[in-house]
Amino acid sequence: MKNLMEIYTRKKKDIAAIEKELEESVYTDHAMLRETSMHLLKAGGKRIRPVFVLLSGEFGSYHLQTMKHVAVPLELIHMASLVHDDVIDDANTRRGQLTVRSKWDNRIAMFTGDFIFAKALGVITQIHKPAVHQIMSKAIVEMSIGEMEQIRFFFHSEQSIRDYLLRIRRKTALLIAISCQLGAMAADAPDWISSKLYAFGYNVGMAFQIRDDILDLIGTEKQIGKPPGSDVKQGNITIPVLLAMQDESLKPLILSELDRIHKLDGQTDVTQFLDMIRGSEGIDKADLLSQKYIDKAIASLDKLPNVQAKKDLIEIAHFIGNRSY
Ligand code: IPE
Ligand code: IPE
Ligand code: MG
Ligand code: MG
Repeated sequence: MKNLMEIYTRKKKDIAAIEKELEESVYTDHAMLRETSMHLLKAGGKRIRPVFVLLSGEFGSYHLQTMKHVAVPLELIHMASLVHDDVIDDANTRRGQLTVRSKWDNRIAMFTGDFIFAKALGVITQIHKPAVHQIMSKAIVEMSIGEMEQIRFFFHSEQSIRDYLLRIRRKTALLIAISCQLGAMAADAPDWISSKLYAFGYNVGMAFQIRDDILDLIGTEKQIGKPPGSDVKQGNITIPVLLAMQDESLKPLILSELDRIHKLDGQTDVTQFLDMIRGSEGIDKADLLSQKYIDKAIASLDKLPNVQAKKDLIEIAHFIGNRSY
């Protein structure tokens, strides 16, 4: 944790510049849109995607002015997808604050998300590289598919690990992958470097979501900024649960709890379910898989030049593998 803070401290000035630019980027004369989008922005967040953009840019010729135009849209796309995700997940809290859908309503959240997406597009046009725009567009398409697939699989207890991995690849890993790739591309780093960074981001992103799904099961509300068990209430069956069901003696118990939660449409206490998963091997097995992705991510950096950013990326990867918030 200390090391992560050191990285943020090293990049403090640039992160502050991005923060300011983020605020300016969602400015609009429309009072309500301004309020709804500032609401999420002000709630904070780790800003991990902009940090990946900046660090990846250090493998090329780093100019903050250019890096900003990639870092800001990446955080905006992330934010827009969160506003929409909270509609899909019926979530009331995020980053310890009310969600847009809960403070206002689902319709307002829809258009707030659209608005933030559009602002992201506006900023990225400052980068005069069509390949960058194409990569961004493709990632947003994949994220939409990932979220649609998540809905399709709600309460599908017979889904495979592969179904799950494909879904998180789309909804989470690709955006982190392209944060690294586009950061390098914007800094005119050679193609082989941006490809390696893409692989790093992809693997870190997979671990990131697996860890997120573990935290939803074992974390406290204070740590995760929302009540634990939110995923299962919604019907989102995540990898610790799938792995817990590999225990044949536990499987029928989990299935019957899932069935009960489903019938009550998630409007029920899920403590028993959480206790069951916490007591199973699902958590440790999921942690092991997440650790494998972290190892793979770090291995992708092997051949990259030994700049400070490389050490920082390795530190962040370790943090993500163990994160508790
Ligand atoms: C939350 O992302 C959604 C996932 C992809 C797991 P973050 O954990 O990066 O959210 P903030 O930006 O820090 O709130
Ligand atoms: C991540 O999914 C959201 C997106 C990638 C859009 P989750 O539903 O797991 O994220 P949280 O838990 O709401 O932050
Ligand atoms: Mg969610
Ligand atoms: Mg979700």
